[in-house]
Amino acid sequence: MLRGKHVLLGVCGGIAAYKIASLASRLVKDGAEVRVIMTPAAVRFIAPLTFETITHNAVYTDTFHREGNYDVEHVSLAQWADVLLVAPASANTIAKMANGIADNMLTTVYLALNCPVAVAPAMNTAMLEHPATRKNIQTLESRGHVFAHAQEGRLACGESGKGRLADEENLVNVLEYALSVKDFAGKRVLISAGPTQEAIDPVRYITNRSSGKMGYALAQAAYQRGAEVVLVSGVPERSAPQGICVVPVRSAADMERAIMAHADTSDIIIKCAAVADYTPKNPKNIKMKKGDAVTLELVPTTDILMELGQREHTAYLVGFAAETNDVIKYAKEKLYAKNVDMIVANDVSDGTIGFDSDDNAVTIFKKNGEQLVLKADTKINIAGKILDEIKRG
Ligand code: PMT
Repeated sequence: MLRGKHVLLGVCGGIAAYKIASLASRLVKDGAEVRVIMTPAAVRFIAPLTFETITHNAVYTDTFHREGNYDVEHVSLAQWADVLLVAPASANTIAKMANGIADNMLTTVYLALNCPVAVAPAMNTAMLEHPATRKNIQTLESRGHVFAHAQEGRLACGESGKGRLADEENLVNVLEYALSVKDFAGKRVLISAGPTQEAIDPVRYITNRSSGKMGYALAQAAYQRGAEVVLVSGVPERSAPQGICVVPVRSAADMERAIMAHADTSDIIIKCAAVADYTPKNPKNIKMKKGDAVTLELVPTTDILMELGQREHTAYLVGFAAETNDVIKYAKEKLYAKNVDMIVANDVSDGTIGFDSDDNAVTIFKKNGEQLVLKADTKINIAGKILDEIKRG
């Protein structure tokens, strides 16, 4: 999504400034055009040359620096930008932005901007929690600026607490979020992702190869398009972008409870999880000892999607069908048997797509008879196209 975009990075004085070099490098690799403005304090932490080498563009540090260029630089830079990310955003710069003080190149450009603005604060916990900083952040949020909020961790001052710069993934996410059209604003989207784990005893379980990547990609895409997202996840250790409500689950029964708790308040439900069809009938509560052969008695789990389809509902229901053979036939059968609005057929016999791959290729079948083939692409792009189809209804 950032390919071809003009990304303006505003770097403030803080130890996390060095992390923005890695972010700039990633953005350039992803095809964005990156320009950097540094505050006077920022250049004491990292040399402008670092950013110039990475971005192949001059770094802006001084509002009055000319070098033969007679453009009004803060205005032309503001017009050039598709998005501004201020990171690390110091308490000082946040305060200036909130109050319209333009005393350096970054704060001057900020006042001249007409594009989305993202802010990633990083500072000592006490400074972050000071009523003045909190009020300034609220002011910027009320202007529609989006935040990659500071995370908990060890801070440069030696203390531990909230104040660490959001990690690079979250910085990229917040940029994508700031740039995306919010065509799912006001929609509540419930998504399930990953496998379930069915306990045999306290240390063993039955599961499958789902990594959660497809479900997380759907959650990210829906969130970036403005939806309120609840993600019921069988892979709780996987991190989701800030702003997504993650409900961690283990077993199919846990997933059923979590989905049912949110189903009635959702406008769209996407069941991407690979839910176990069977679970051990009598899981042991102490570890089973090695010995002779054992026979496990398995009983069917509730088919959550079928349950949702059969009860009275207003939500738009989307199921996935993971098949290794007769993909189209089985997917169509599930569309009708589970009474859903859309089935996304996934051929999981192909190791380059489906389970645990970064890519996918699917065929969409809708209850209204429409059918669409989505050729191999990244899961995030496939997720975006699935959302486009959900929007078309
Ligand atoms: O997680 P990844 O590694 O990224 O892989 C993605 C994926 C291959 C898991 C995903 O794209 C996918 O195909 N998910 C559906 C997996 C699956 O369980 O398919 P199914 O054909 O067995 O089930 C059909 C539908 O019924 C699914 O929407 C499933 O969530 C739902 N179901 C199944 C069983 C059950 N007890 N309850 C359910 O709700």
